[in-house]
Amino acid sequence: MRRLWAGIASHGVQVPLIHVIIPIMSISSQLADPFWQTLLHRRSIRRYTDQPVPRPLLERLLTAAIWAPNAHNRQPWRFAVITDRSRQQQLAKSMAERWERDLLADGAAPELAQRRAAISRERIGTAGAIVVGCLSMIDMDHYPDNERQHLEWLMAAQSTTLALGNLLLAAHHEGLGACWMCAPLFAPERVKEILNLPDDWEPQASITLGYPAEKKDKTRKPIEDIVIWQ
Ligand SMILES: Cc1cc2nc3c(=O)[nH]c(=O)nc-3n(C[C@H](O)[C@H](O)[C@H](O)COP(=O)(O)O)c2cc1C
Repeated sequence: MRRLWAGIASHGVQVPLIHVIIPIMSISSQLADPFWQTLLHRRSIRRYTDQPVPRPLLERLLTAAIWAPNAHNRQPWRFAVITDRSRQQQLAKSMAERWERDLLADGAAPELAQRRAAISRERIGTAGAIVVGCLSMIDMDHYPDNERQHLEWLMAAQSTTLALGNLLLAAHHEGLGACWMCAPLFAPERVKEILNLPDDWEPQASITLGYPAEKKDKTRKPIEDIVIWQ
């Protein structure tokens, strides 16, 4: 990382060299640096081979997750790791049922609702492993007013998201495919019941993991469109 920082003579200010490089180089051809390779080449992968994901590898991913920055260093994240296929399918089925019900309630055509639920069931039910990322407020601060309590909860959610972001990057670095699935947010009680999670664990997302059986490309909005420099 250090060599990516360059002292830019003008104004005597340290400017990250990457701010200089990215606008003038095509992203796909830049930087052989392994960190940037991992960062730029990670994609959401939703199809996996049948090869099981070994536990020591899952432990490395969790190690990456828990070294994320987090609010007050209270480490509000919690993880349920599911490698048992029948448990995985039970979870996938329950969340897909809930999604299908919601789609139908929104007025979606029954065939479309069924198809979308079936895709979700298949993706979650056939992954090599699933990590359900949860947050717990147990060690966070508690406030008497709703506004600050909500912000404290948001900090726990942000911390948990950073942990799962680390986990996704580590998965790619280790040769796995992975995808963030938001389904647990919509069916937290079902997830808690099926996985028998402690009361204070609030499911936020499931990360499906496995050895990749597809390749994906994605684009991003250009930096100029989304940044205000001041
Ligand atoms: C908060 C969040 C929710 C997501 N939910 C889903 C999801 O439910 N299903 C899915 O297939 N992908 C989901 N994704 C993955 C995104 O679709 C994906 O990250 C995005 O399209 C960019 O593609 P990339 O990850 O390959 O760069 C989610 C990602 C995030 C960060």
